[in-house]
Amino acid sequence: MEKTSIILDVDTGVDDAFAVLFAAMHPAINLLGVTCVDGNTNVDQVIANTLKVLDAAGAGDIPVARGAVRPLLGKSEYAEYVHGADGMGDLGITPSHRKVDSRSAIELLRDLIEESKEPVTLVPIAPLTNIALFLRAFPETAKKLHRIVLMGGSASAGNATAAAEFNVWHDPEAAAIVFQSGVPITMYGLDVFMRPGATSENAAKLLKSSDPAPQFAATLIQAFIERLHVSPITLGDYGAVACVIHPELFTTEVFDVVVDTSQGPARGQTICDRRAPFLKSIEPNDLTDSAAVRVVLDLDVEAVEQLWFKTIDKGWL
Ligand code: BDR
Ligand code: CA
Repeated sequence: MEKTSIILDVDTGVDDAFAVLFAAMHPAINLLGVTCVDGNTNVDQVIANTLKVLDAAGAGDIPVARGAVRPLLGKSEYAEYVHGADGMGDLGITPSHRKVDSRSAIELLRDLIEESKEPVTLVPIAPLTNIALFLRAFPETAKKLHRIVLMGGSASAGNATAAAEFNVWHDPEAAAIVFQSGVPITMYGLDVFMRPGATSENAAKLLKSSDPAPQFAATLIQAFIERLHVSPITLGDYGAVACVIHPELFTTEVFDVVVDTSQGPARGQTICDRRAPFLKSIEPNDLTDSAAVRVVLDLDVEAVEQLWFKTIDKGWL
């Protein structure tokens, strides 16, 4: 089977956990490494959570590196109200014995991309601080990237604020650097993020398996449902990974996009020029520093959900 080589950049995070499980377990994905960043919680907690997820996935020796401890300019604002005090549902899972890579996140990114014989897709599902630092530190290596498929932004409403999605809002300057980098970008944002989901019934079905991954996934799903008092809960960041290997399940359109880095109410917004072509041709484009970005606008929800369940639980029917 032909494999797609990816590197995940995470702020694990309940839904990052869903994404890491999938990336580590899907036979068509070669997960080269995982870099961690300040986001849903502090970077050391992100690392601890990520290592636990790799344990649950039964993953081999995948390098995990420590990245930025705070955004480029702003201060850290965590999402513990969503993800729990430990950033991953406060489940009391035994700490992992896996070792953290001795390289920094940007060094690991450089080495993995330089060493890979296959094109590498970078999949950031977290604030873009590590990726911006990498692009600035190693621009020649960045040119070798196949593309970036990121969870972040929105062509409609925000979640962290009325205008902005959390990952972009957490570090808008970093996001602006990434969007303007010239690397081809697919944006899996809030227009679709909430749609693939999991219910208590799904969790109960996963619990019938005795394997660690479905057991872990079920515990996480149920805890998230109880914490947020909502069902189904979103599989969230996982969708960006699915989009890399199954683009046929997603509908996309290319827009000129700019990240708002002002200090106003739209800070962190990804402004997408969705005007009709005839309007764009008669009105000047006032989106300075915009980049053409492929934006995910729709998806086959049922197929994307089933893809996740079948990958996590080998006995899923
Ligand atoms: C994003 O923010 C985080 O809380 C989630 O993990 C996801 O990456 C959604 O806005
Ligand atoms: Ca995330």
